[in-house]
Amino acid sequence: MARDLAAPPRGPVVVPEAVAALAGADAVTPVWRNTLGGLTFRLSGDRGDRYVKWVPAGTPELDPGAEADRLAWAGRYARVPRVLDRGADAAGSWLVTAALPGRSAVDPSWPAHPETAVRAIGTGLRALHDALPVADCPFSWSAADRIARLSPAGRADVGGEPPVDRLVVCHGDACAPNTLVADDGTSAGHVDLGSLGAADRWADLAVASMSLGWNYGDGYEPLFFAAYGIAPDAERIDFYRRLWDAA
Ligand SMILES: Nc1ncnc2c1ncn2[C@@H]1O[C@H](COP(=O)(O)OP(=O)(O)OP(=O)(O)O)[C@@H](O)[C@H]1O
Ligand SMILES: [Mg+2]
Repeated sequence: MARDLAAPPRGPVVVPEAVAALAGADAVTPVWRNTLGGLTFRLSGDRGDRYVKWVPAGTPELDPGAEADRLAWAGRYARVPRVLDRGADAAGSWLVTAALPGRSAVDPSWPAHPETAVRAIGTGLRALHDALPVADCPFSWSAADRIARLSPAGRADVGGEPPVDRLVVCHGDACAPNTLVADDGTSAGHVDLGSLGAADRWADLAVASMSLGWNYGDGYEPLFFAAYGIAPDAERIDFYRRLWDAA
């Protein structure tokens, strides 16, 4: 997600035909619009809640197939959505997942208790990094791979990669909205794993900590790093935030 632009949709949302067909008699609620026009809907009915991520045709940056593959792998080790279906038509493509319990860490009910959400984001990210076996991970999100996709100007802005501190399976978009929080304030799982892959843990830590300011205001980074169980590393944080902004 990008600063301030991805959010629950304001105003009416046109439900794509494919989403209406998937819903059948279920109620359709728009829950999210991302920076590239991708939409997420909740479908609620007798079969329990499902989520449909729909992306318009012509946005190769959003690839439901890549996310489905990563969810299937990560679901063996961690709490991530179970893939129910995927498909495409001329207008777009989609991924259907079973609802995880909990509410997004940026659900309107949490900013009243930002410390609870921030602690859950820190402990949840630590649990994810500890649970996913990097030696078995078939996906990469390495700095080298990401730098190779930048323009020459972008590469110059980002600069050289610091040595890897600890290689883990990174979430790939560890922004606050992608952590789900249970009613008791513990982390309930993670969504939005389309970029998941092996990388230095600071690739996630830098972005997760940066996103706290967008969603809760200043001053929550120390609590986040304490909940994860790590001291901030200024050099790696700067590098991975530059890389995030450049990509
Ligand atoms: N299976 C699920 N269970 C519960 N909530 C879900 C599920 N899938 C999606 N959501 C909710 O929908 C929101 C949007 O989904 P997701 O983050 O995957 O979309 P996105 O468009 O890729 O987001 P971003 O703007 O971060 O790139 C999530 O923040 C979460 O609140
Ligand atoms: Mg998201």
